[in-house]
Amino acid sequence: GREPLRDGHGRLIGDLRLSVTDRCNFRCQYCMPAEGLPWLDRAEVLRFEEIERLVALLAQMGVRDVRLTGGEPLVRRDFPTLVGLLAPVVDDLAITTNGFLLERDAAALVAAGATRFNVSIDSLQRDRFYEMTRRDALPRVLAGLEHLAQFPEAHPIKVNAVALRGFTEDELLPFAQFARSHPYEVRFIEFMPLDADRTWSPDQVLTGDEIRAAIHELYPLEPEPREPHATARVYRFVDGQGRIGFVNPVSEPFCGDCNRIRLTADGKLRTCLFSLNETDLRGPMRDGATDDDLEAILRDAVWRKELKHHVNEPGFIQPERSMSAIGG
Ligand code: GTP
Ligand code: 5AD
Ligand code: SF4
Repeated sequence: GREPLRDGHGRLIGDLRLSVTDRCNFRCQYCMPAEGLPWLDRAEVLRFEEIERLVALLAQMGVRDVRLTGGEPLVRRDFPTLVGLLAPVVDDLAITTNGFLLERDAAALVAAGATRFNVSIDSLQRDRFYEMTRRDALPRVLAGLEHLAQFPEAHPIKVNAVALRGFTEDELLPFAQFARSHPYEVRFIEFMPLDADRTWSPDQVLTGDEIRAAIHELYPLEPEPREPHATARVYRFVDGQGRIGFVNPVSEPFCGDCNRIRLTADGKLRTCLFSLNETDLRGPMRDGATDDDLEAILRDAVWRKELKHHVNEPGFIQPERSMSAIGG
């Protein structure tokens, strides 16, 4: 084994969010322009062996919770094969997906050892789902989610909805009812300044507290204890029918006990979602770096992990890359 990975603020790093592709089959308004983005070349993207090597090295340093993201991870060719390579190396292998390809891939992903799934669904109304994602795909996504839910190993399943002021208000009752009638934890996520269009402004953020208050009027809620390092504040319906969560990075930042690092599809380490600089791992790896060399690069970069984000402060600078290129 190797020494645990720590940052300069005393935080132990245990969680890796790994983007396997910058491409996506959706074009969510808050994420990507309709025409897409200039994609990475194939040669720029880490190969499975390179990903496996970095994940195994990080696992030796105690980073054993891994979440695979994109873009949309399921559009990466032979993605279940990658899941099968990584699952034996880590403790927890989670996937965040838009659900479009789950009918095709859920069985293979579960068989390969994926342990948890978060499925993004921003609206439960077909026309509004189309407006948000620019794809008329709600029926297919819901079918994918139901298909996934048949596998006991896939649970607990979470459903993520990005909340936008002027849009999500109409979704609160449908989502509350959905959470109460399905075995999924629905979570509302505050819109963050990571959109490709760079049109984010604070007044577009519908806060978790506003949503919670509105749902509480309809169906009373009570808080559950916060898990360490959690992104979400979780509540259960007082009558026992299900749970609902709120990821409030803007109104209630959870940076204090952040134990996460990120790796982009092109092999750059990011120590924060909002990092303004990245540390290249692909170059050294392809130039023959040993595991000890890579460990030194990782430790140095992680030591400088940001204390917190500055979204709410004057002078905030939005990172150059948007969410789909960073990886949710
Ligand atoms: P669980 O481990 O299942 O709770 O998943 P998660 O919430 O960590 O992951 P998911 O991919 O479902 O992310 C939900 C939302 O939280 C996404 O919008 C992420 O970008 C956001 N998120 C995850 N980690 C961080 C973080 O470190 N900082 C900020 N600001 N947002 C984050
Ligand atoms: N703000 C908040 N969440 C976002 N996501 C994508 N872009 C943004 C943004 N600008 C969400 C996706 C998905 C998760 C990985 O990140 O909808 O649920
Ligand atoms: Fe694709 Fe996810 Fe971005 Fe939507 S949020 S465009 S599903 S990467």
